[in-house]
Amino acid sequence: MIAKTEEDFNGLKEIGKICGTIRDELVQCAKPGITTKELDEMAGEMFEKAGAQSAPKGEYDFPGYTCISINEEVAHGIPGKRIIQEGDLVNIDVSGSKNGYFADTGISFVVGKGDTTLQKICDVAKEAFDAGLKKAKPGAKKSALGKAVNRIAKQHGLTVIKNLTGHGVGRSIHEAPHHILNFYSRWDDEILKDGMVIAFEPFISTLEEEVFQSEDGWTFLTDESFVAQYEHTIILTKEGPIITTL
Ligand code: CO
Ligand code: CO
Repeated sequence: MIAKTEEDFNGLKEIGKICGTIRDELVQCAKPGITTKELDEMAGEMFEKAGAQSAPKGEYDFPGYTCISINEEVAHGIPGKRIIQEGDLVNIDVSGSKNGYFADTGISFVVGKGDTTLQKICDVAKEAFDAGLKKAKPGAKKSALGKAVNRIAKQHGLTVIKNLTGHGVGRSIHEAPHHILNFYSRWDDEILKDGMVIAFEPFISTLEEEVFQSEDGWTFLTDESFVAQYEHTIILTKEGPIITTL
């Protein structure tokens, strides 16, 4: 969407704060021994208390309030009986709506002491986000974000996932502009606009550049790579980006 009115900005900020708070709470509670279902139920209670709805549940009938993905799972992991272990790479992705406004945020992190490579991809995903954010200005090319993401990945000897992308958000969970890529494409000549709301989410990989879908119909997996994501919802303005989900 293009945010124009004060109501738009306030509505986007409100749901952004709700999703960001749920994300942070789940990260805090993601300790060895807890199941992903237990974490997800906490999110469900927090959405309800805030008078908000889970976007994957509400929009796509996803079997959970949030997406929780562990190790070989990259995204859209279904919360369930899986028990979080020391050293796991965990991704928590929270998206929701309130009063017709949407936000989407996610983070990958290592539980306790893990492999240094896992921590590295999490750090590089954040660094790639920050590099892309500097290019996220009205009037700039959308492709500048992916270019920045891929540059940071390469600098660290890592790759990006090419078949997962960021997206427009605001009045629904996925809307125009579609496909904010994690690499530069000369075919992408879309120009970012003042007030445009995007979910920017670099995916940094240790090796593979594509994910595939699991038989459960939801989860995206890799074969022999680890992948980290870092995502926020951003309103692009001439005065600078407003991150609603901090
Ligand atoms: Co997300
Ligand atoms: Co997203």
